[in-house]
Amino acid sequence: MSLLVLGIESSCDETGVALVRTRDGGVPELLAHALHSQVAMHADYGGVVPELASRDHIRRVIPLANQVLTQAEQALPAIDVVAYTRGPGLAGALLVGAGVACALGAALGKPVLGVHHLEGHLLSPFLSADPPEFPFVALLVSGGHTQLMRVDGVGRYELLGETIDDAAGEAFDKSAKLLGLGYPGGPALARLADFGDDTAYKLPRPLLHSGNLDFSFAGLKTAVLTQARKFEGVPCEQTRADLAASTQAAIVEVLVKKSLAALKQTGLKRLVVAGGVGANARLREALNAACAKSGVRVHYPELHLCTDNGAMIALAAAMRVQAGVEAPNTDYAFDVKPRWPLDMLPLAA
Ligand code: KG4
Ligand code: ZN
Repeated sequence: MSLLVLGIESSCDETGVALVRTRDGGVPELLAHALHSQVAMHADYGGVVPELASRDHIRRVIPLANQVLTQAEQALPAIDVVAYTRGPGLAGALLVGAGVACALGAALGKPVLGVHHLEGHLLSPFLSADPPEFPFVALLVSGGHTQLMRVDGVGRYELLGETIDDAAGEAFDKSAKLLGLGYPGGPALARLADFGDDTAYKLPRPLLHSGNLDFSFAGLKTAVLTQARKFEGVPCEQTRADLAASTQAAIVEVLVKKSLAALKQTGLKRLVVAGGVGANARLREALNAACAKSGVRVHYPELHLCTDNGAMIALAAAMRVQAGVEAPNTDYAFDVKPRWPLDMLPLAA
């Protein structure tokens, strides 16, 4: 079955549009994708302002769709399915993508499919040069989620463990803020950490020995706050870099050890890492080393597809349709799901 899927992502602060084509029996192919990041717009506020996010998405989405069609040398009528992020995310922002996708589908007489944002992240390594094979353990580390999952196929996801408070990305972002770094904090903290000594501060590794696969990062943020308060008024670059490096090391160690525990528990020998924090170089180094030692293959999305993008949404829709898990529909009376657990997705037969 060959399908041309247009994907629209608008759940948070990136407007992403992409075109993916399914090939018979093969991994779907990314024909073109375009992204507009709102980072600069939200930076002045130190975080995402939902109302501004929605207004910007609506300004960007149609021009980005045109750009993608031009790049892929395709015309609107060639689109078979219009996919959009249905949730989780900011309600107003989601409504923009869903509204445009459903209007486009209705105008073209083509079906639409609402996609789970985390399923998009989870499947994004299938667009990489080294795509995984099922089954695998997935470490999903984004700004809002930190989960370990057993993945047996498209739509067959079993939650093994998750954070009981902050997500890994949130730990990066909040610690970065305490260190006086801008938004988004993850990449900024990682850059500063390059100049620091990661053994300088002894920070907690919450739930490391809990015996289960859950995470907790709220205590780490408090520990960083306590340290940061100590050098208020004495802004020494090296001290900040040392604290950044120690914070990153604590987050990375917990993520690596829990991932290995999940692999051991499931007996699987394949790990997929997805979500924004998956772009972190230290995390990749540490996971590569640990997995090589235990004979585990590890797969990542291409670096530019780690954070939010339209390609993963088009891909997830294409893979769900191709695997027969879900058919696209012509119910243009859509709704969005700001909160939506991944295990509530329609499952494979
Ligand atoms: O997946 P994503 O783009 O959006 C969500 O679905 O949440 O993830 C964004 C998160 C932010 O918390 C950001 O700080 C973090 O990913 N992030 C990083 C890096 N790049 C993005 N964290 C650490 N190191 C990075 N290089
Ligand atoms: Zn995301």
